[in-house]
Amino acid sequence: MNKRFEGKRVLLTGGASGIGRATAKRFAAEGARVVIGDIDEAGASKVAAMLGGHHVFYDASDPAAGKTLVERCSTILGGIDVLLNIAGIMTWGRVEDTSVASWQRTLDIDLSAVFYLTQAAIPILVESRGCIVNVSSAGGHHPVYGTVAYGVAKAGVIALTKSTALEMGRHGVRANVVCPGGVATPMHEKTMSAADFDMAVLAEASARNMPKLAGVEACTPEEIAVAIAYLASDDARYATGTVLTIDGGQTTG
Ligand SMILES: NC(=O)c1ccc[n+]([C@@H]2O[C@H](COP(=O)([O-])OP(=O)(O)OC[C@H]3O[C@@H](n4cnc5c(N)ncnc54)[C@H](O)[C@@H]3O)[C@@H](O)[C@H]2O)c1
Repeated sequence: MNKRFEGKRVLLTGGASGIGRATAKRFAAEGARVVIGDIDEAGASKVAAMLGGHHVFYDASDPAAGKTLVERCSTILGGIDVLLNIAGIMTWGRVEDTSVASWQRTLDIDLSAVFYLTQAAIPILVESRGCIVNVSSAGGHHPVYGTVAYGVAKAGVIALTKSTALEMGRHGVRANVVCPGGVATPMHEKTMSAADFDMAVLAEASARNMPKLAGVEACTPEEIAVAIAYLASDDARYATGTVLTIDGGQTTG
């Protein structure tokens, strides 16, 4: 395997599970020193121990948490070269029945936290001429029935990434975003069982959002990690403001 991140200092959120865990493994395998910020301390510490990395408790719903995480990571690693915003939650709810609490929580964790962490990390990334990769969703540019708050938050992550790329390019800082479709992770499993939601909504969402690629197994978190690593590497040195969708063709029509 290439060692594209030898000696690079990588801060990622959501590394306790799914796409974040696969990404932490990928970066460590390519030589990175990794700090994982996650609300799941037990899960994050297990992954960090496996990789010789570090973990820091991080609750994305707390607006002050991004600054603290950046400070802790800078102390541990002596700076940051790559910031990966991966942590997130998925919530069901149509425009007509999404509660204020669900709307707020989804926006807080899936969008505002990405903004706070990005803002806190920018001075350090300017110093290192580093880069950012955010994880949005195919649902951020193509609505999935019954997921309005999630879709709005993920659309916001795409807009935030483009603004970051536009404003930070002059400092040599790149920002890109990956938009997965369905990926086989604990989040996806929970979403598709949706015990707390109307099964008719789930059926409608599924019918409208099938991958168009026949004969291919479900996307794995490792495949998304490869895309994230590409965008963070020098292989993508000319890519900034890029929206990389990996969804088996779900959003092609
Ligand atoms: N799995 C999919 O089908 C899919 C599709 C599109 C986009 N995504 C996005 O990919 C990202 C990772 O999702 P996943 O499928 O790996 O899910 P996952 O549930 O397996 O992992 C999510 C991680 O985020 C952490 N997290 C959740 N709430 C947090 C909080 N308040 N503070 C800090 N950490 C928190 C969890 O502890 C966990 O480690 C998310 O942003 C998700 O929206 C996933």
